[in-house]
Amino acid sequence: MKLHRRVFVVGGHVTPFIGKSHPDFVWKRHPDFGKRENPTLEQHLTAAIRGAFDDTGVDPAAIQRGTVGNFLGSLFSNQAHLGSMAVRAHEGLYGTPFVRTEAACASGGLAVTAAIDAIQAGLDVTLAAGAEVQTTVSPREGAGFLARASHWETERDIDDFTFPAMFARRNKAYKERWGVTEEQLAHIVVKAYANANRNPLAHMKAVKVSLEHASAPSDTNPQFLRNEELREHLKVTDCSQVSDGAAALILASEEGLTRLGISASDCVEVLAYGHSTGPLGMVDDYTSLNTTSRAAREMYADAGITPGEVGVAEVHDCFHVTEALMTEALGFTDAGGGGRLAAEGATTLEGRIPVNTGGGLIAFGHPVGATGVKQVLEVARQMKGRCGDYQIATPPTVGVTANMGGDDRTSVCMAFRA
Ligand code: CAA
Repeated sequence: MKLHRRVFVVGGHVTPFIGKSHPDFVWKRHPDFGKRENPTLEQHLTAAIRGAFDDTGVDPAAIQRGTVGNFLGSLFSNQAHLGSMAVRAHEGLYGTPFVRTEAACASGGLAVTAAIDAIQAGLDVTLAAGAEVQTTVSPREGAGFLARASHWETERDIDDFTFPAMFARRNKAYKERWGVTEEQLAHIVVKAYANANRNPLAHMKAVKVSLEHASAPSDTNPQFLRNEELREHLKVTDCSQVSDGAAALILASEEGLTRLGISASDCVEVLAYGHSTGPLGMVDDYTSLNTTSRAAREMYADAGITPGEVGVAEVHDCFHVTEALMTEALGFTDAGGGGRLAAEGATTLEGRIPVNTGGGLIAFGHPVGATGVKQVLEVARQMKGRCGDYQIATPPTVGVTANMGGDDRTSVCMAFRA
């Protein structure tokens, strides 16, 4: 979408993303097991929203509309009506219109586009949040919940782990078509963990993964699918994490910035976004992300930029093959070139086009509804030189995000300029 009113990312807040293997996450092998609980959905959401006010200095009373990206609060936490839940975060928000957006793993991206749309419609200061808690049940039961993002009737039973199996199917087709190897794709995993090791907010900040470990199955890196045809095409390290966490950001028009007393030079500008939705359960090509490609084409055309100008990208790496396919959909390489691009090191912090600099969904973590919001803040922070140990040496001036729901069924791509 072309923006007829300018929109700026003022700033925001990301909570630590936590889950199994994070030092603070309580589970049966943690010394605090039975002594304390992990934060709830409400606590994560509240922390992100309050953090966004603290980090930007924006008065909550200035917010004219809010959105909350969330996929499965009703199932994992028995909690829906999250617009109203978000308003509990601060007295200054009582009465402000807030809604929840849901598009599976693209729920957060759509929270941001809805907050942009509100500015296009005439408001001046809006807030977009996203939150998810998924660790209240086992990964296997949770996989059944996440399967609601598929076409349940025809796709749920591909495996107990529906989405891991759907992307194992893509991985199989992708490798067969282009001759891409598991070792090439393992570079995506190794980069993700190496970046997360430098990111204090990352779920996997304390876990090291070597190329050898990520390249081949082992007792400590099992192929866990039951689907016999697909099992050999997915290992544990290829997957994004089952994480809890939240993110919130504040957007403003030019008039909004004046009202807030914030200079545009302290913000990044949203240039445009592309949003495309494909028919559920009707993927026509497992070797490319056609819905994301459509959203990316719209974004580039409306932003007036080309892939070659992009200096940082946050893409939806729900599995290692997805990052390879995302880099193709965004035009950073040709069809079939995603594995090679990663193996050459082009997507590392020092590479030609750094991708998922904080660890991505694989190692920063993937609290589903928060992911699309976190992506925008990550790109904005890289462009403003605020990423600490994982800062790109020369802060990029153009960045993009790509957030995806389901098996490339909903895609939101956004472009930003510092
Ligand atoms: N040998 C053989 N099998 C083993 C094993 C071993 N050494 N260790 C584990 N397993 C098997 C077991 O069968 C186990 O399942 P059960 O315990 O229920 O039998 C299974 O592997 C998982 O093991 P764990 O529960 O110990 O795994 P974990 O806690 O380390 O989690 C993971 C690993 C299952 C890969 C988990 O991280 C995961 O599910 N990740 C993917 C999350 C996901 O799908 N998110 C959505 C992405 S899709 C998207 O983004 C789009 C959208 O809209 C949905």
